[in-house]
Amino acid sequence: MMIPLGHGVVLRPVAEGDAQALTDAYVRNREHLRPWEPRRSETFFTLTGQTERLEAQLQACRSGRVMPWVLADGDRIAGCVNLNSIVYGAFASGALGYWLDAGYTGRGLATGAVMAVCRDAHERLGLHRVEAATLVHNVASQRVLEKAGFEVYGLAPNYIHIDGEWRDHRLYQRILNDRAPKL
Ligand SMILES: CC(C)(COP(=O)(O)OP(=O)(O)OC[C@H]1O[C@@H](n2cnc3c(N)ncnc32)[C@H](O)[C@@H]1OP(=O)(O)O)[C@@H](O)C(=O)NCCC(=O)NCCS
Repeated sequence: MMIPLGHGVVLRPVAEGDAQALTDAYVRNREHLRPWEPRRSETFFTLTGQTERLEAQLQACRSGRVMPWVLADGDRIAGCVNLNSIVYGAFASGALGYWLDAGYTGRGLATGAVMAVCRDAHERLGLHRVEAATLVHNVASQRVLEKAGFEVYGLAPNYIHIDGEWRDHRLYQRILNDRAPKL
């Protein structure tokens, strides 16, 4: 699966050989991502840390719990979109997380990637719903979700530990279809 997003960037599933490119991307974007992410350990920014993380992610992907994607510009990783916490049965839902390299923002790439991941969740994974949560002041991310057809359904106080504090989040969902679930 290789989905062109424009500007020379493709969306593809994360692959075994991506650990070095992921390390480079997280090192490059350490300050850019700090306000929007959990506190990261020093190991997180090393090849060893990213190799371990990637192995765990690929294992979770094989067992159907996670679908991890990267935005790639040649050998460079320009962002990530993960469909996490995938649950089947009567819920048939997954939770989105995403970020873009600081040098690639403002070109519609996150919106295109989120829309493509939703299409895959609908067509291939057979899910009913995708959810996402943003910090209340993350206007760029909220705009991405609105453009991709998500709607707000709540405000969760003290929801996720981001940049060193439990922070309130705005909750979004997109209903993908009204198909009955496989029970
Ligand atoms: C949020 C993020 C993924 C957006 O990526 P992107 O590729 O720039 O997104 P897009 O270009 O598809 O869309 C961004 C939209 O937000 C708007 N926007 C950006 N900054 C904004 C701001 N400060 N105020 C208002 N709107 C803003 C853009 O104008 C655009 O909307 P438009 O198409 O109507 O003009 C990126 O900024 C990022 O990685 N941020 C840090 C990590 C993060 O916040 N991840 C999401 C956690 S929930």
